[in-house]
Amino acid sequence: MKLISTNICKTSDIGVNDNLFGGTMLSWLDEAGGIMASCVCRSNNVITLKMEEVLFKKPVKVKDLVRIYCRVDHVGNTSVSLSLEARTVNLIKTTEDLVCSTCVVYVHVDEDGRPKSINKTN
Ligand SMILES: CC(C)(COP(=O)(O)OP(=O)(O)OC[C@H]1O[C@@H](n2cnc3c(N)ncnc32)[C@H](O)[C@@H]1OP(=O)(O)O)[C@@H](O)C(=O)NCCC(=O)NCCS
Repeated sequence: MKLISTNICKTSDIGVNDNLFGGTMLSWLDEAGGIMASCVCRSNNVITLKMEEVLFKKPVKVKDLVRIYCRVDHVGNTSVSLSLEARTVNLIKTTEDLVCSTCVVYVHVDEDGRPKSINKTN
């Protein structure tokens, strides 16, 4: 999997149970996936179509560094399917822990928001 982004969990990101708010994690995942989909499509005009099961496997706490990894699973005519993983990192032990995972589908669109073929040449 390819490292796309790294986020730090701030106090302002915490929900009511002292863990990272799930919606913030979804936002980090969606943004990282959108970056990868844009690279695949070589266009900024990509839109999130579908987020599959999201598994919040372990809690994320304040000050945790969260790395978002991505793998391209499928490139269709207009869509890109990706697997995404969020992992906390222990900088001292240099280990990572899987905290969240999902699969997301993005669609390449034209200026009017209609699906547009991905140029797969090169
Ligand atoms: C994304 C959007 C433009 C797609 O339009 P659409 O008319 O549904 O598109 P199509 O039926 O032509 O399908 C487009 C692609 O998505 C794929 N697709 C459609 N439904 C799918 C599903 N349920 N699961 C996986 N892929 C799907 C199709 O297979 C196609 O991919 P391909 O060309 O690689 O084969 C439209 O659904 C949309 O605007 N959705 C809102 C997106 C949005 O606002 N996202 C932000 C979320 S807050």
